[in-house]
Amino acid sequence: MIKNNIIYSGYPEWRFNVLKAKGDYIWDKTGKRMIDFTSGWNVTNLGWNNPEISDAVIKQIKKSTYVPMWTADDVQNEYAKLLVQSLPKELNVIGKATGGTEANEEAIKTARAYTKRKKIVGFKNAYHGQSFGTLAIGFLPKYVKSISPLVDDFIQIEYPKLFDNKKSPEEILYEFGQKLEKILVKEDVAAIVTEAGIITGWGSTYVAPKGFLTLVRKLTKKYGALLILDEVGTGFSRCGKLYGMEIENVVPDIATFAKGSSNGVAAIGTMVTTTKIAEKTHRLTNLISTFGWTSVACAAALKTLQIHQRDKIWLKSAKDGKYLIETLRKELLDVKQVADIRGIGMEVGVSFKKDKIVNEIVQKAEDNGLHIVSDNERNIQLMPPLTISRENLNKGIDILVTVIKSLVKKT
Ligand SMILES: Cc1ncc(COP(=O)(O)O)c(C=O)c1O
Repeated sequence: MIKNNIIYSGYPEWRFNVLKAKGDYIWDKTGKRMIDFTSGWNVTNLGWNNPEISDAVIKQIKKSTYVPMWTADDVQNEYAKLLVQSLPKELNVIGKATGGTEANEEAIKTARAYTKRKKIVGFKNAYHGQSFGTLAIGFLPKYVKSISPLVDDFIQIEYPKLFDNKKSPEEILYEFGQKLEKILVKEDVAAIVTEAGIITGWGSTYVAPKGFLTLVRKLTKKYGALLILDEVGTGFSRCGKLYGMEIENVVPDIATFAKGSSNGVAAIGTMVTTTKIAEKTHRLTNLISTFGWTSVACAAALKTLQIHQRDKIWLKSAKDGKYLIETLRKELLDVKQVADIRGIGMEVGVSFKKDKIVNEIVQKAEDNGLHIVSDNERNIQLMPPLTISRENLNKGIDILVTVIKSLVKKT
C-alpha cells in the first residue's frame, strides 16, 4: 500500500523513519541508536553527515548553487581536475551525470558511438541502474517481464563467481575466458560492462577469481571492444583502493562513478573516458544533464575526494575489511546455516544455505542496534562506513554474530 505518497524501493514499505545519522550511527524516530553497516549502500563511505563535507557545501551555497549547462563554474573545473588527476593518466575527460544509471547510459552511448558497433555484454544478476539500457545489462528477464522489451543487442553472460562453484578459481577463469572470447571474436561487441571483480550492485557480493579484470581487459583489447568499468559501488575506497581498477591495475576505456562520490550530500554521477574516445564521440552522444554536476554537488564531491586522499581512507578500508572477514570467518564458518563469507575491502558478503533466515537476521540485528541490509535471498552485504571506529566495528560484529547464532543451530 502506498504511504506518505511515496514509492519506496526494496521493501514493501520503508524500514524505519530516520531521526538523524552521524558518523558510524543512525537513529530511528523512537530514538533508538544503531551502528551502521550499510553506508546507505556504499554512499556514506566517510561516515554519515560528515561535517567537513557539510561545511564545504554551506560555503558553496553562499557562492552559487547552480549554473546553466552551457556555462561553467570554477568548482566544477576544480573537481574535474582533481578527479582525473586521481585516475590513471589515460582517463581524463568527464561526462556530467546525476547518478550511476545516467553515468552508465552515457558510457554505453559513448561505446556504441566510438566503436560503431551495437552489442553490449554484461553479467546476469548484476545491477547497473534503473533505465531500460542499464537494466538490459544484467537484470534477469523474469524481473523485468512487465516492462519489457528492454533494449536490443545486449548479451548477458554468467558471472564467473567463486561462490557455490565446485571448480577451482583457475578453471573458472579459464572457462570464462573461453566463453567471452567466443563472443568477442565476432568483432561486433561495442563494450563489456562490469564491476572490478565483485558484484556490489545486486546484493550477491559475488567475487570473481583473481585475474578476472586483467583477462577481460586483455580480450576486449584483442577484439576491439571497450571495457566499461562500473565503479559506482567499488569507487571511493570501498574495496581497499581508492578505485577498484587499482586492484589489478587495469585501465578501462570508460569508468563510471556515483554513490560514494559526494558521500550522500548531493546527487552526482560521472563518466570518465580518454581524450581520444571523447573527441570522437561527444558530438554524437547527446550527454545532456540538467542537474548533472551542479555547483553544490561538485563542492561536496571535491571535499569528499580531498578527504579520501588526505586520510588515505583506502588503507583503513583494506585493513578493516580483512579484519571483518577474518573475524566473521572465525566466528561463523562452523555455523550450520552459514555457506560463505567473502568480499573485497569493506564490501563483505555473508551467505546462507537457506533463504528465509536472511530477513529474520536483518530485523533482529536492527532490534539489537545494528543496521544491516539485504537485497538478496541468501546473502547479507555488509558495507560499514570506512571511517568506523574499531570499537564500533567490533560491537557491530558482536551483534551480528550473536543474532546469527541465536537463529541457527551450531553443527
Ligand atoms: C554497481 C551499481 N551501478 C549503478 C547503480 C545505479 O546507480 P544510481 O542508483 O545512482 O542510478 C547502482 C545502484 O545501486 C550500483 O550499485
